[in-house]
Amino acid sequence: MTEGRGLFITFEGGDGSGKSTQMRLLAERLRREGRQAIETVEPGGTRIGDQIRRILLDSRNQDLRATPELLLYFASRAQNVEELILPALERGAIVLSDRFTDSSMAYQGYGRGLGDEAVLALDRIACHGLEPDLTLLIDIDHETSIGRARARQLSPSETRMDEQAAEFHARVRQAYLKMAEREPRRFRTIDGQADPETVALAVWEAVNPLVSRLHV
Ligand code: TYD
Repeated sequence: MTEGRGLFITFEGGDGSGKSTQMRLLAERLRREGRQAIETVEPGGTRIGDQIRRILLDSRNQDLRATPELLLYFASRAQNVEELILPALERGAIVLSDRFTDSSMAYQGYGRGLGDEAVLALDRIACHGLEPDLTLLIDIDHETSIGRARARQLSPSETRMDEQAAEFHARVRQAYLKMAEREPRRFRTIDGQADPETVALAVWEAVNPLVSRLHV
């Protein structure tokens, strides 16, 4: 385990991959098994993070440049790490995060073309060496992603990232798949196109061995 005595599990994937639903299902299952599960989300997770999230996802902010965008995602993350994640891990909790640094790598590093050096440098400042023990990549293809995003009918204040070109989302997906290939011990790639129960089972099979090694 990277930090403290708990377990840090992150969910990653393209927009509409169903990872948020899967994270909720996992949290419920862990609690049924008597585990302490803390849920967080990025951008957001804290009061400060929620304020930063509003800037990042507001469709009126089309003039937000790539570098300040990257810094804002990491500002939200730094607050989340210091205020919520590290203290919870020290208490021995299982922390589940809907997105973490891998999102910045996929969306800003590769999607926006800022490169991995900038992302790694900010990670060192913001995360104090914290790395996920397990990252679940819920993978879906672009058509499924678009279909699900339309069905959700988000409000304009939540759509800035969803309005990116298809080519941008294709780059993000390829980046995720490459990252998972490069770090097979940390990543599990799960087919997000299957029905939610099947995905939940695959998630549980990946998580259970780590959880059973934790003392209660
Ligand atoms: P959100 O509405 O939470 O979507 P999702 O359910 O897909 O997670 O919006 C988060 C958006 O922010 C999403 O498009 C991915 C993007 N994002 C980045 O570009 N970089 C990051 O570091 C993070 C955490 C998110």
